[in-house]
Amino acid sequence: MNSTLLSPIVIIGAGQMGSGIALTCASKGFKVYLTDSNEAALKKAEQGLAATASKLQTQGILSASEEASLTKNLGFLPRFEQQDCGLVIEAATENEAIKTAIFADLHKRLPPRCIFASNTSSLSITRLAAAVSHPERFIGMHFMNPVPKMRLLEIIPGLATSTTTLSTMQSFARQLNKEVVISRDYPGFIVNRVLMPMINEAFTVLMEGIASREEIDLAMKLGTNQPMGPLALADYIGLDTCLSILEIMHQDLASSRFKPCPLLRQYVAAHWLGRKTGRGVYVYER
Ligand SMILES: NC(=O)c1ccc[n+]([C@@H]2O[C@H](COP(=O)([O-])OP(=O)(O)OC[C@H]3O[C@@H](n4cnc5c(N)ncnc54)[C@H](O)[C@@H]3O)[C@@H](O)[C@H]2O)c1
Repeated sequence: MNSTLLSPIVIIGAGQMGSGIALTCASKGFKVYLTDSNEAALKKAEQGLAATASKLQTQGILSASEEASLTKNLGFLPRFEQQDCGLVIEAATENEAIKTAIFADLHKRLPPRCIFASNTSSLSITRLAAAVSHPERFIGMHFMNPVPKMRLLEIIPGLATSTTTLSTMQSFARQLNKEVVISRDYPGFIVNRVLMPMINEAFTVLMEGIASREEIDLAMKLGTNQPMGPLALADYIGLDTCLSILEIMHQDLASSRFKPCPLLRQYVAAHWLGRKTGRGVYVYER
């Protein structure tokens, strides 16, 4: 696929996911703009980019030419007033009202060629697509964290998504060197439908005093051959995001299997959100 077809790409939300998606797309030669409604978040993403890129190069994840392409292709927009764009990837907070408002605003301004994608972890793609006038050009593109390192991309067509949009996004994923799985549009899709109950149960085991956080993580790492224990992974994802995903699955699947653990709720209430705030289940140096 010709990279100019989807360029420029606009990424909405400059948190951990938006920044990673922007970096990945720009390093593969796409012209990318990253934007956020919070100026401080956008600044933080811009300031952290050079350090992240050189770390990824040291780790062999980015080549020297990809790092150069990244610097050339990535721009930061405090306000998104652009009139042309081939692809929007929304990576804002996991909240349906926020995401719907973003799409409802954008679809009036952008040209008919534009494809709208959401990086939502759990919300209905079909419902989000109802905010735009061309739901056939709307799709779920669920990247994994950290985006430059993780090979998987879950693609979720909504009820109205066209086969052209799906095949364009499959080809885009290949250009990003991602392995694609396609999921039907059900809450949590594949990855979070399986992962979040495990994370939730790890919180319950901690809350019930069955074992310490370190023992729970070590048990799952060594006992089930995972690179990271579920509590450390929850901190990595963001406890607010984990809670939102569980709430959405609990409500939309109407099953108590997904009812969020009270301890998880408490951590979020205390604003212990994980790595991004310096404290979650564990404490991190900032
Ligand atoms: N964290 C993960 O591991 C992970 C993995 C896959 C998908 N996701 C999904 O990606 C999305 C973002 O998650 P994250 O971890 O990057 O969260 P985050 O909290 O790091 O970042 C969210 C960003 O969205 C911005 N934002 C909020 N409202 C906005 C608006 N109206 N316009 C523009 N920007 C706005 C916030 O200022 C913030 O910078 C969520 O939908 C989440 O479910 C997260």
